[in-house]
Amino acid sequence: MKTHLYLKILIIILLTSCRPEMDEIIKPSIIPKPLAQKIGNGSFIFNNDVAIVSEPKLLDVSNYFTLYLKENYNFELSNNNSTKKITFKIDDSINNDEGYELNVSKNNITVKSKHAKGAFYAVQSLLQLLPLPSSSNTFKIACVNIKDEPQYKYRGMHLDVGRHFFSIDFIKKYIDLMARLKMNTFHWHLTEDQGWRIEIKKYPKLQEIAAFRNETLIGHYNDQPHQFDGKPYGGFYTQEQIKEVVAYAKTRQVTIIPEIEMPGHSQAAIAAYPELGCSGEQVEVATKWGVFDEVYCPKESTFKFLEDVIDEVVALFPGKYIHIGGDEAPKTNWKNCEYCQKLIKKEGLKDEHGLQSYFIARMEKYINTKGKQIIGWDEILEGGLAPNATVMSWRGTSGAVQAAKEGHDVILTPGSHCYFDHYQSENENEPLAIGGFLPLEKVYHFNPIPEGLTDKEATYVLGAQGNVWTEYMQTEKQVEYMAYPRVVALSEVLWSSPEHKNYSDFINRLEQYQKRLDLLEVNYANHIYSVKGKFTHLSDRLTFELNTTSSSYPIYYSTDRSFPSKLYSTPITIDASMHIKAVVLDSKKTALGAIFQQEINLHKGVGASIAIDKEPHPAYNTGGKGALINGVSGNNKRYGDREWLGFLGEDIEITIEFDKPTNINSFATRFFNGNGQWIYAPKEINLQLKLEDGRAISTLKKIENTKSLLVDFKLNISQFSEDKNLKATELKITIPSYGNIPEGKQGAGHKAWTFIDEIIIN
Ligand code: ACM
Ligand code: ZN
Repeated sequence: MKTHLYLKILIIILLTSCRPEMDEIIKPSIIPKPLAQKIGNGSFIFNNDVAIVSEPKLLDVSNYFTLYLKENYNFELSNNNSTKKITFKIDDSINNDEGYELNVSKNNITVKSKHAKGAFYAVQSLLQLLPLPSSSNTFKIACVNIKDEPQYKYRGMHLDVGRHFFSIDFIKKYIDLMARLKMNTFHWHLTEDQGWRIEIKKYPKLQEIAAFRNETLIGHYNDQPHQFDGKPYGGFYTQEQIKEVVAYAKTRQVTIIPEIEMPGHSQAAIAAYPELGCSGEQVEVATKWGVFDEVYCPKESTFKFLEDVIDEVVALFPGKYIHIGGDEAPKTNWKNCEYCQKLIKKEGLKDEHGLQSYFIARMEKYINTKGKQIIGWDEILEGGLAPNATVMSWRGTSGAVQAAKEGHDVILTPGSHCYFDHYQSENENEPLAIGGFLPLEKVYHFNPIPEGLTDKEATYVLGAQGNVWTEYMQTEKQVEYMAYPRVVALSEVLWSSPEHKNYSDFINRLEQYQKRLDLLEVNYANHIYSVKGKFTHLSDRLTFELNTTSSSYPIYYSTDRSFPSKLYSTPITIDASMHIKAVVLDSKKTALGAIFQQEINLHKGVGASIAIDKEPHPAYNTGGKGALINGVSGNNKRYGDREWLGFLGEDIEITIEFDKPTNINSFATRFFNGNGQWIYAPKEINLQLKLEDGRAISTLKKIENTKSLLVDFKLNISQFSEDKNLKATELKITIPSYGNIPEGKQGAGHKAWTFIDEIIIN
């Protein structure tokens, strides 16, 4: 008898251990985090005894779920006599169309919503409760009760298909991926200087000419001289394809906003129809990036063209909005155009900005007659906002503040938090990107409500959007790399309640979510096992602290350039210059992320005290003023990291006070000079040393060569003092801003940014 019992136990153990997926109930780790979620006891088992019932209004969504189970889990639901039921019900007491209640108990899964949208989002939560698909056709999910609704009604992702063109299949995948995160708006940027991508039947040259360019810039725009690949490039979407995408998006509860740029970013259209420009001269579809002088001339025939285009566009897109661009439209050609100047006089406009406002307001009026509303980038504020326009604020948040105060709806897409074309890691081996630095954590901590709005004004903030400009994204894989996982973080910013925001909890859920992205073959950037380092100034010593985003695995490090082999537990004491290497290793000592490297230069400024008379711009102040004298230099490409400080159009004065009189031989720093991003090195620097005997000596140095992306500044004290042994108590550095950006450059007329790096004192 006894052996029998042992045998039985053994069989049970074998059976259960052979089918781990049968036993495993995964812990609910839904992204974006639901508003309220109560985990109960037990589980709902998907076996051959489950049926689905739905009210007619929710049938499309329940069918989507049924099909999903079939395609991904090879799972077939049974008939109505089953013990267990999945029920889709309308519940009018839920007051948000996108809200839902999802209840999972042992024998029932109930989805309640007022609208199909809410039911669709309940299903998205449900899909994340399911284990990853396996060969077993039986699996279970935890009992849970979820009551959920979004914080913001506009949850968008943008994609620029003008700079690079992507297939219809990819556009659908992009929409599917965002819908899984409960994002509801796809902003399709369809026209650019470098390519017109939407078929307009009335104007065939848009397809023949504007959709193709002769060649494309190689490398970064800042790399001089410019080089080109010599290969024709282009393509466009037919109206049939667009209808197919619109219909697909509808099944994912995604609305598409088409963008037809005007009056700027229109060189491709002018290449096809030169009479749309001021001069009427032939131009080519642009082959490099940037802002071009070729803009539409506001002639009657131009408006006729744009109205015809809009007629075909509104017939394709059922959504409420048409985006008309409005950004980065240089006024050069309008200033030199007889017609434009006459029109300014005739309409009593103040200047060319007034003309831009006239242009937008006129197009708005036309678009309103079609029952649609316009959205424009924040430049549409210049010269007066069109009466019913919604503003998309990209140059920081001041446009959003102004528009909301004027009673207009706004959507936040500031470069500092929403430009997913910026770098996301400080690793030197990141693929080429436009510039900037926007790590996942910064996206996660974004607050779409800008400072300076009252509660009432804040109600004009509809939400926010991630922008994916594709100058440096030639492939669909690269678009995925730049967008993910930043879209995942943004989804939580827009859907989840801010009180529940917790980055380390988010990262734990992201680790799970990334496994789902693997199954969907998404080429996301996996930086959660990357090491990051930070100088910390403890009272008795300087230390360097290492950390990773995920704490699932340990960090190993070295300080002598060897492969990291010491287990990291406490901050590393910095008592000399050194080179730190660090990496996350799993139990087999395999590296999970890239190797982090940091050169530390223990110069004489490290540990001194520093004051700056202006606050760095909040978007570029991650490391604070101490970052200028912490022994760590900024990244060579990414001015948005924690080492560079950025100032917008201000003269700055930096004072470094030494804790004892210090002999100084040289001084060095560097400036970022990414003119394409509106960043300019200063033209001069003034240095003043306060000496131990109370005297002060100073010098003004011009900065000569400002052609390169990084402008080095170095000064030996011997260049302005003969005293080799002078001892200073204080160093004051005065840096006047470059001033306004010159005509003909990107951002002309705006204040230039100043970005300064480590101040190295020897
Ligand atoms: C933009 O990034 N030019 C809106
Ligand atoms: Zn003109």
